[in-house]
Amino acid sequence: MRYIPLTAATYREHRARFRQHMEKGGLAIFHSNDIMPTSADGTMPFKQATDILYLTGIDQEETVLLLFPDAVDPKDREILFVRETNEHIAIWEGAKFTQAEARELSGIPTVLWTNAYDATIKRLAPQAEHLYLNSNEHLRQGNEVETREERKNKELRAMYPLHGVKRSAPIMHRIRSRKTQEEVAQIQRAIDITGKAFRRVCGFVKPGVKEYEIEAEITHEFIRNGSRGHAYTPIIGSGYNACVLHYITNDMVCNAGEVILMDFGCEYGGYASDLTRCIPVSGRFTERQRAVYNAVLRVQREAFKLLRPGVMMADYHKEVGRIMEGELINLGLLDKAEVAKQDPERPLYKKYFMHGTSHFLGLDVHDVGLWNEPIAEGMVFTVEPGIYIPAEKLGIRLENNILIGKDGNTDLFANIPIEAEEIEGMMASKAKKAVA
Ligand code: GLY
Ligand code: MN
Ligand code: MN
Repeated sequence: MRYIPLTAATYREHRARFRQHMEKGGLAIFHSNDIMPTSADGTMPFKQATDILYLTGIDQEETVLLLFPDAVDPKDREILFVRETNEHIAIWEGAKFTQAEARELSGIPTVLWTNAYDATIKRLAPQAEHLYLNSNEHLRQGNEVETREERKNKELRAMYPLHGVKRSAPIMHRIRSRKTQEEVAQIQRAIDITGKAFRRVCGFVKPGVKEYEIEAEITHEFIRNGSRGHAYTPIIGSGYNACVLHYITNDMVCNAGEVILMDFGCEYGGYASDLTRCIPVSGRFTERQRAVYNAVLRVQREAFKLLRPGVMMADYHKEVGRIMEGELINLGLLDKAEVAKQDPERPLYKKYFMHGTSHFLGLDVHDVGLWNEPIAEGMVFTVEPGIYIPAEKLGIRLENNILIGKDGNTDLFANIPIEAEEIEGMMASKAKKAVA
């Protein structure tokens, strides 16, 4: 394994949290993702379903978890299934989890091979009152491909049409939104590697580099530090490209005088980090670029203070919008009188700042969470205001990740430079070293 996983104690704690929300007689079933095909005999790299990873730590295909707290036999209260391994598989595909390794990592005493799943379900489902089935209830999910979990859910519903069915997703969103200590440490590891990649890039950028060369530097730094790579497709956009919110082609030249917007973050042990920084191609911001940069930075700092326990996300977003409005007026981008007359449902600031300020972060970069409940201690969010001015070929977004605490928030990016002058200084000193 190239990363240090969480401990069995934490996986046990995650499962205990789930059980707390189960009703009597419930049997919860979680499946891993499929290995997705490409064409011919090709496959995509395996990406584990994040819920089963959260509950077991098993990052392997064909994994299943059963949670059945009221099972008659205590051995049936938690059962983990892992894909059977043998010498043939070991030679062609490499090591897979043995039952003992899976037991040690997950802390689940009963580990069976996945080919025992059907028979086990037939044995246990009649004991259960209802089945807890999982599904993707992310607010922005949009999936045309049926997952393994959806396939298995259909089978279960056909086999046991008279069992009650309950949704696991709301429970998962609730428990995953408040991070355990080890999860925060894992996110911090991801962030620290992302920070190293940012420093590397600051010493690399000069007029004429291609956006994908920057991407390559980042990827290199991620992998050499034990990450499997990007937590999401990175955005490296210079000049006008910074205004294309989901720009991922990263294939243009960075020209002198432009600002490059870089939104990237590594994945470590399944956990995501999510950074955005903007740096001047020539090593120094122009006056106008600096003014826009500092406006975004001020909004970010105000947002840090607003994102506190008890606050509703919708109110927070509205308040950040109001602060942004003031900055856009000062930059001459909005007219104060027009703003006074604006339709509150369609505020004018959205012309220059058209996305949300914060999202949950964790095993998924746009992590699951409770959008309609107050913010609470232990949640981890991004804070990422931006100003995009296509007419000036300028887009600035600054994105940090923060942990909500009872007595104050922790900026998990505290060690990653953000002040315009710090970045200029870093670029100048690296450039000097390169010349020497
Ligand atoms: N990197 C995706 C986002 O910032 O939300
Ligand atoms: Mn981002
Ligand atoms: Mn983000």
